[in-house]
Amino acid sequence: MQDFPVTRTQHPKPRVADDKLRFGDVFTDHMFVMDYTPEHGWHDGRIVPYAPFTMDPACCVLHYAQAVFDGLKAFRDERGQIRLFRPDQHAARLNRSCEALCIPPLDQAVVEASFAALVGVDAGWVPARRGTSIYVRPTVIATDVFLGVHPSAGYRYYVILCPVSAYYKEGLAPVRILATDEHVRAVPGGLGSAKTAANYAASLYAAKDAAARGYAQVLWLDGKRGEFLEEVGSMNVMLRLGDTVVTPPLGGTILDGITRRSAIQLLRDWGVTVEERPVSIHEVMQAHADGTLTEMWGTGTAVVISPIGELGFRDARMVINGGATGELTRRLYEAIAAIQYGATNDAHGWMRPVRALEAVDA
Ligand code: COI
Repeated sequence: MQDFPVTRTQHPKPRVADDKLRFGDVFTDHMFVMDYTPEHGWHDGRIVPYAPFTMDPACCVLHYAQAVFDGLKAFRDERGQIRLFRPDQHAARLNRSCEALCIPPLDQAVVEASFAALVGVDAGWVPARRGTSIYVRPTVIATDVFLGVHPSAGYRYYVILCPVSAYYKEGLAPVRILATDEHVRAVPGGLGSAKTAANYAASLYAAKDAAARGYAQVLWLDGKRGEFLEEVGSMNVMLRLGDTVVTPPLGGTILDGITRRSAIQLLRDWGVTVEERPVSIHEVMQAHADGTLTEMWGTGTAVVISPIGELGFRDARMVINGGATGELTRRLYEAIAAIQYGATNDAHGWMRPVRALEAVDA
């Protein structure tokens, strides 16, 4: 594995107890940083103390959001070994996002090595309690100072780490979701499949609107006809219709979720038919009326699997599985968690070990 120079912090922060962790508000002692210039390409990968960046107010990323990110997790298994979940897939997706935002690609091996090296340096921060993990957030931002609308020449890649617990305070408890045809997350030919800041900014108003109506998140419908399911909140969505699992196809407007891929693989391993095909809100309503819509859930790195207990659309209120977590939903959650926490055989080789590099707070 590639080695990077490490400057250790002189001021290690106190760790937050595993049972006090939330999502995304605590950061470890170090970060990985690497810069791009047209003359030197991506260069100078290094691990340094976690600290703010100094930015010019005219830095183009602050104005035009030429930025991409990804999110993956590292887990401490039952033997204390730290392992990353599918870092190769996340590094590859980061590069696909870069391409969509005119950002020069990174060497995938360097990106994977940056995850492992940083988690190794901050190994003492990886929590042990079931349900907790380290959320790894690689990000690329445009760094040039200008106000014209064009791609930047310079970029910064950085990685930060958060010890986290469940994303939703509900945990594996089902959430209420509002399908909307009033707001749109992405359109064909747009940025929907990229993990870019703009998609998340575009989701905020609709989420606030849904929250005001008592819903945890929005079920996004397609931007052309306002009819076909796309994503739920910032997750992919799956439905159990009878004995079949149906999920919207990748087609440029939805994110190619790593948890989505993993769930599809496990379901197929179990002999469950999975259809990646367009599914309309009308089909969902009909299936609910017929009693064939028995489970619905979101998949994402942060939540893993998030059961949906109620779906609203216009005046309709559809309670799914009596508002309780379904059998397949729970089985999927438990199967993925068992792989992540090393409680079962990792048949697909998804987990990649991290070598602890003498944790600074050990
Ligand atoms: C995920 O990891 O599922 C997400 O996309 C949520 C993240 C933006 C916090």
